[in-house]
Amino acid sequence: MSSVFHLSLSEIFFMLFHDEITRRRTFAIISHPDAGKTTLTEKLLLFGGAIQEAGAVKSNKIVKTATSDWMEIERQRGISVATSVMGFEYKGFKINILDTPGHQDFAEDTYRTLTAVDSVIVVIDAAKGVEPQTEKLVKVCRMRQIPIIVFVNKLDRPGKDPFDLMDEIEDKLDLMLTPLSWPIGMGTDFKGVYNIFDRNLYLFEPNKQKAEKGIAFNDVQNPFLVQYIGSDAGILRDDLQLIEGVYPEFEVDEYLNGTLCPLFFGSALNNFGVRELLDCFLRISPSPVGRQALERFVQPNEPSFTGFVFKIHANMDPNHRDRIAFVRIVSGRFERNTPYHHIRLNRKLKFSNPTGFMAQRKTIVEEMFPGDIVGLYDSGNFKIGDTLSAGEILHYKGIPHFSPELFRYVENADPMKSKQLAKGLDQLMDEGVAQLFTGKISGRKIIGTVGALQFEVIQYRLLHEYGASCRYEPINLYKTAWIISDNKAALDDFKTRKSAQLAVDKEGRDVFLADSPYTLQTAMDKYPDINFHFTSEF
Ligand code: G4P
Repeated sequence: MSSVFHLSLSEIFFMLFHDEITRRRTFAIISHPDAGKTTLTEKLLLFGGAIQEAGAVKSNKIVKTATSDWMEIERQRGISVATSVMGFEYKGFKINILDTPGHQDFAEDTYRTLTAVDSVIVVIDAAKGVEPQTEKLVKVCRMRQIPIIVFVNKLDRPGKDPFDLMDEIEDKLDLMLTPLSWPIGMGTDFKGVYNIFDRNLYLFEPNKQKAEKGIAFNDVQNPFLVQYIGSDAGILRDDLQLIEGVYPEFEVDEYLNGTLCPLFFGSALNNFGVRELLDCFLRISPSPVGRQALERFVQPNEPSFTGFVFKIHANMDPNHRDRIAFVRIVSGRFERNTPYHHIRLNRKLKFSNPTGFMAQRKTIVEEMFPGDIVGLYDSGNFKIGDTLSAGEILHYKGIPHFSPELFRYVENADPMKSKQLAKGLDQLMDEGVAQLFTGKISGRKIIGTVGALQFEVIQYRLLHEYGASCRYEPINLYKTAWIISDNKAALDDFKTRKSAQLAVDKEGRDVFLADSPYTLQTAMDKYPDINFHFTSEF
């Protein structure tokens, strides 16, 4: 008789719950625009049967648009709600791919999305190498020790020498790499890849929509290799010898703690190298991991539901004011129509239409598990970083604001509507569109953003959603820094001397306004007891 019959109901329940967690993979694909993120996502969805044909994911991408055409970008972002999370089943795994905006003006959205994933795949264009946005995004991943797999794409085109490319990636991204596959030729001479991980040879056929089959080659010294790749066999053997001598052996633990990154080569457009990437990813990547709350570390297999809001998406249609709050489930089982505790508001909330994201479709879900993302319709209760729980008082950390890069004064352009303006600004800031600072002495409000586009978005949305008009005025500001100190006297002294350059953020924390790199550096040198922080989490 099977031992299952000796288990109590609660033990069986726990086993099923545990299985649900371990079969989940929640990750993001990140890249500089045009490296092939959308194409790779699409191929992964094809494997999972989540879409039927190539081209189905194109709507997810923000097409290159002139900065002034921000309405078009917002419209596309609206469409992208459905593709914010793409869930599908594959070989018994439940996979959640979290979409990250390609437009650099929405970089902060991407940073926040990275707080909700357990690992990432970085796509790099073999010809272009490491590009600026990849650098920024990987930096955030490294700060959070997120396990990273690198996929070098577009091998069907002439690109950089793979060894040079690896040097560049290690150098610019400050990563330690270990290749798990290796290209044979490139561009018109691209013959395929040798998979070091499963010791298979994969031969390239362009424009093939079906995934390739591997040919087992345990030993590349096998003379038959020449039959498949001709004179490239010698080069491959030399390359592999060099790799063995120079690069560390793959250790899954080092990958999981973010210190070693496996590297794959392929061509997403040709569906080449993608299935191996996915299969290896599923073998080595982490199932949902716990999260640090202010009070304690929470493990995913704890029975009580907890989760946090990492993204809020407003409906652009003025007739439908609702917003969707995206909640990453950290622990326990989320159930529909069950009252949960909104910690910041100290209120119970019940959700009758919680939304799951499967195969690019939104559907009402009855239950969800750690690693899943649930979309909650919201009329203004949530802000980014909010925690929900079954009752325990917890505050999840890890949704930092970054010091903005562009600043303007915001003024009320319609004195009759000052309440509307205040409410509108408050809600837009809660959504994470921008950051608001108030000058300590002047009392003037300053909006800080990562991209220029947000200023127009804010002005438009204030008018159309809140009936408020605002006007911007220039401000000479280089950077803001949150300031704290253990030395109260030093802090007070600094605040008195620099009062004209002080502001408070929305949470009432002190912020130093530096008008130039020189001002900032001088202040940092002159006041060593003051800590200057450029992200809001310290
Ligand atoms: P992104 O989401 O990272 O911005 O990139 P996306 O997948 O949209 O790919 C950018 C361009 O690169 C697309 O071409 C896409 O077809 C192409 N591409 C992606 N993977 C490969 C590959 O393995 N080999 C080659 N040769 N090209 C690849 P496009 O002309 O901009 O768009 P489209 O007209 O093909 O849609």
